[in-house]
Amino acid sequence: MAFCFEKDQLVIASEGFLSVTMQSIVQEIGKPTYVYDLDEVVRRLKHLSGAFTENTTIHYAMKANSHPEILKAVAQLGLGVDVVSEGEIRLALKAGVDPGKVVFSGVGKSKSEIRHAIEVGIRQINVESVGELRRIGEMAGSLKKVCNVAFRMNPDVDPDTHPYIKTGFRDNKFGMDESALPELEEVLKANSEYVHLTGLTLHIGSQIRELESFLDAIQKTLPIWDHLKEQGYPLETFDIGGGVGISYTEENPESDYALIAEYGAAVNKLLGDRAIELQVEPGRVVVGRSGVLLTEVQYIKQTPYKNFAIVNSGMHHLMRPSLYSAYHRVEPIEKYTDRPSMVYDIVGPICESSDVIGHDRSLPRLEEEQWLAIRDAGAYGFCMANTYNAHELPEEVVVSEGRKL
Ligand code: LLP
Repeated sequence: MAFCFEKDQLVIASEGFLSVTMQSIVQEIGKPTYVYDLDEVVRRLKHLSGAFTENTTIHYAMKANSHPEILKAVAQLGLGVDVVSEGEIRLALKAGVDPGKVVFSGVGKSKSEIRHAIEVGIRQINVESVGELRRIGEMAGSLKKVCNVAFRMNPDVDPDTHPYIKTGFRDNKFGMDESALPELEEVLKANSEYVHLTGLTLHIGSQIRELESFLDAIQKTLPIWDHLKEQGYPLETFDIGGGVGISYTEENPESDYALIAEYGAAVNKLLGDRAIELQVEPGRVVVGRSGVLLTEVQYIKQTPYKNFAIVNSGMHHLMRPSLYSAYHRVEPIEKYTDRPSMVYDIVGPICESSDVIGHDRSLPRLEEEQWLAIRDAGAYGFCMANTYNAHELPEEVVVSEGRKL
């Protein structure tokens, strides 16, 4: 049942095992800490694996959270990863991910990153520009090694999400317009010995909870697939990217599971009887709700205008509220039902007014040295943390089957 309250304590509960209280982690570590529920991560990966056609490969988008224990779990389930740098390739392989199950996305791949990807023999590079395809041609030719590529198309859709995390609109730097195809085909021809076009790929953005945009993007791209097939390209894979959003407001995560199931069924229907290996690159929906950030109240500061709860995690530990005005629930790790409710701005120690975790939160009266949980922080939390103002990075703890790993 992942994170929940048991006897007024926030815990990770896993069926058949003793629950682990956040209080016990605070007592042991005493510093800002990300805590992950690995069993929930595994449950979500299994649910995703079963939601699409049988011929589907899940490539976990490890940019969301690249903790080694999470990558190990991905590898043990026989799944793949979507990477966006040489560093991520190295982390994935170190955790035991099969190089044949690595796809490499991103608009700015350097020569050395492309060389490394070809040398270790990853499944495919998702190409984002004509220049990149040329570069792949040069590198594969000089290494005399075949490189599979998939063209990332920009389907020009405008999903309902924050503008900073839309990627499939025509103004975005990602993917390629259909008009690039003639030039791409020329480059392919010139490099036909070592560069093989094996698929198409999409990724329209992140934290998307309406399925229409995903389906619209796929529908717009399938004719390109059919056209290239007719041209004689031996296409095998269609990668629909990641982007399925999570609920940041509900205590019960069931709606995430339902959304994945609905998405899977709709995609399967769209693909029809095409012989396609489907690829999916989920990130947030795997790990987002499987993590919290524990932080301690340092001071309660009351002004004539506001009550501030100043905590020891801020935009340096969790950037999402400052960067995307993202909402994260904040709760005491121990419920105090006897305290009156008060309204607080939860803010960090960083010397900027953008350093706010949550505005106008109604909470049982807070006290100094009390610990809070910033909920649903498993995705794009620790991996985006930094040491601004020369602060320390937060700690990380992974819990599985009732114990800390
Ligand atoms: N595939 C590609 C090519 C991507 O660029 C991304 C995310 C994903 C898959 C995974 O998307 P997801 O399933 O996690 O939505 N830092 C932002 C999110 C940035 C997403 C970047 N790309 C945030 O905290 O909301």
